[in-house]
Amino acid sequence: MINQRRADGSLRHLTTLDGLRRAEIEQLLERASAYVCAPGQMPPRNQNLAGVTIGNLFTEPSTRTRVSFELAGRRLGADVVNLEVQLSSRAKGETMLDTVHTLESLHFDVFIIRDSQSGVVAHVAANVMPHVSVLSAGEAHVSHPTQGLLDALTVRQCKGDRFDQLTIAIVGDIRHSRVARSAYEAFTGLGVGELRLIAPPALMPAAEEFPQGQRFTSPETGLPGADVVMMLRIQKERMEAAAIPDGEEYFQRFGLTPQRLALAKPDAIVMHPQPMNRGIEIESSVADGPQSVIRSQVSNGVAVRMAVLETVVRPGGSRT
Ligand code: NCD
Repeated sequence: MINQRRADGSLRHLTTLDGLRRAEIEQLLERASAYVCAPGQMPPRNQNLAGVTIGNLFTEPSTRTRVSFELAGRRLGADVVNLEVQLSSRAKGETMLDTVHTLESLHFDVFIIRDSQSGVVAHVAANVMPHVSVLSAGEAHVSHPTQGLLDALTVRQCKGDRFDQLTIAIVGDIRHSRVARSAYEAFTGLGVGELRLIAPPALMPAAEEFPQGQRFTSPETGLPGADVVMMLRIQKERMEAAAIPDGEEYFQRFGLTPQRLALAKPDAIVMHPQPMNRGIEIESSVADGPQSVIRSQVSNGVAVRMAVLETVVRPGGSRT
């Protein structure tokens, strides 16, 4: 793990939520709350990052994360450039770093990186100029820190800030999910009361991972009493073909149906980071139903990314 901080302790990079203090997570969520905006309203914008140049470097597909990082930068007055980066998997870290060094010469100040290989984001962060910040937009199965924050913000909006009174269930392909790892760090960082991991044995993470999670092998045993039900996509791209579960059978055993959701608390919320496989991990009527906050998660993504960008670029507070 790299040091994400400057010498004065302020946050310079965000490659993981691991190591963030509770107060720092809360401050990020506070700052993000100020940028939350209901659909149809004019989104907040300012010039706090005027003059800053941000590069989006994505080597894996992305819709929500890329677009919301782009909007976040633009709404803070920064210049944002999206680069399609094709890298040969051999020496990926080095080629990514060459691209980054070229862009540094063009006065880029922030790099937002998504990559399927673990370590690339940290490698870049460890080798950029001192004034440059690097943010992860999703690293292999390892981490997706802004997703963890937007998930925490969504839970807080719906359930309040007493995480110690909440039971949160994460359901599905936890083993291959960077979303689950960052959500775990955010929720445990905020002092969650009970965290449950619900997955078939093949999709359960290793025993030493998620130490605070209680493990369940069926929704019937894991969902009763949950305040939050977070569903995950099966990450086929991170599995051997033979290990990919059969969609129909998976839906029978783990798919979130109205009947299964009824096992959780009556006011439980349903989350999913998207993209969703309707009819595999979640039934459409639940994804689009009254307990779903999946669309709020997307809106909150922009607010959280605005807060993170401001925090790393202007550690002393916003510039007017
Ligand atoms: C996720 C991702 O790419 O990690 N999507 C996202 O960023 N919202 C989840 C996924 O791909 O299943």
